[in-house]
Amino acid sequence: MAKPRILSGMRPTGPLHIGHLFGALDNWRTLQDHYECYYMVADWHALMSEYKDPSRIRQYARDNVADWIACGLDPERSTIFVQSDVPEHTELHMILSAVTPIAWLERCPTYKEQLQELAAKEVNNYAFLGYPVLQAADILMYKANAVPVGEDQLPHLELTREICRRFNSLYGEVFPEPEAKLTSTPRILGTDGRKMSKSYGNFIALSDEPDEIRRKVWEMFTDPQRIRRTDPGRPEICNVHAYWQLFDQERAKLVADQCRRAEIGCTDNKRTLAEVIVAKLDPIRSKRKEILSDPATLDELLRRGADKARAFAAATMRDVRQAMGITIHG
Ligand code: TRP
Repeated sequence: MAKPRILSGMRPTGPLHIGHLFGALDNWRTLQDHYECYYMVADWHALMSEYKDPSRIRQYARDNVADWIACGLDPERSTIFVQSDVPEHTELHMILSAVTPIAWLERCPTYKEQLQELAAKEVNNYAFLGYPVLQAADILMYKANAVPVGEDQLPHLELTREICRRFNSLYGEVFPEPEAKLTSTPRILGTDGRKMSKSYGNFIALSDEPDEIRRKVWEMFTDPQRIRRTDPGRPEICNVHAYWQLFDQERAKLVADQCRRAEIGCTDNKRTLAEVIVAKLDPIRSKRKEILSDPATLDELLRRGADKARAFAAATMRDVRQAMGITIHG
C-alpha cells in the first residue's frame, strides 16, 4: 500500500532555533520513516509580512534548508522545495480564494492576533488576509493526508479542511481531508522566560557558536526565590530545568533532585546544561556549515525538489481544472 502523504512548511523569516528543532524538525525527521514527505520553504508566506524588505528571504530560505538537512531531513527520501519554485501554488490559491468566504478569514483567530502583533510591519494587506488560503493551497496541492504542525497552526488547518470540504462538495472529491498531526513537545520559552521570539532575540539558534550558547544559558533566570546557594530550589518553575528536560530527561531528573535538596547551585547547573546543549548542537552546526559552503550542491538539491514538487502539482492542477470544468485544452 502507498504510504500516506504529509506536507509541512516553515516561513524563512530568520535563523532556526532550538524551538524549531524540538517543536518541528525532530518530528519531521521521524515522519520520513512512515510517510511520503513534502517539506516546503514558505517564502511567499514570508513575503506577506516581510514585503518591505524581501531581499533577506532568499538567504534565510537557504539557511533554513541547510538546518533542516543538518537536523536529519534526507533529500533522497523527502521532497524538499521552495514554494515560489512551484508557481502552481498561486493558481490553486486563486481558485481556492473563489470558494472561501471572507468571513472565514476575518474570524480566524491568528489573523486578529497577528494584525496586532505585527502592527509594525503593517500587515493590513490583502495577501495577509488570504494567508490561510495560500496555506490550504500548499497542503491540498500534494493531496496531503496529514500536516505536522504546532498548536499555533490549528486554526489554519481547520480552515484548510473547511475549504477542502467546500471545494469537494462543489466540484467532486478531488482532495482528501488533511488531518493535523500535533507535535507533542511542550512550548519552549525563550532564555529570558518570555515567549521565544525573533524580535526578543531570546533564543538559542542552531547556528550559535559554543560561547554564544554559554552566554545565553548563563543569563537565564532560575527560581527567583532561590537566593542563596543553600536555599532549596523549585525546578518546576525554573526555565533552566525546562531546558534540561528537552535536552536530557534522565539528567533533568537527577539535577532537579539535587536542586530541591540544594546540593547543586544554579551556576553549576547552568554550566553543565550549557555543555550539554553545546554537545547536542555541535554536529548540527558543523553539518550546516558544510552544506552552506557548497552552494552548487544546495542549488541542485533544491532544483530536484522543485522538479518533483512541480510534477505532482501539475497533475493536481489538471484534476482541479477538470473537476471544475475550466479546462480549455484537453
Ligand atoms: N503558516 C506556517 C507557519 O507559519 C507555515 C506554512 C506555510 C505551512 N504553508 C504551510 C505549515 C503548509 C504547514 C503546511 O508556521
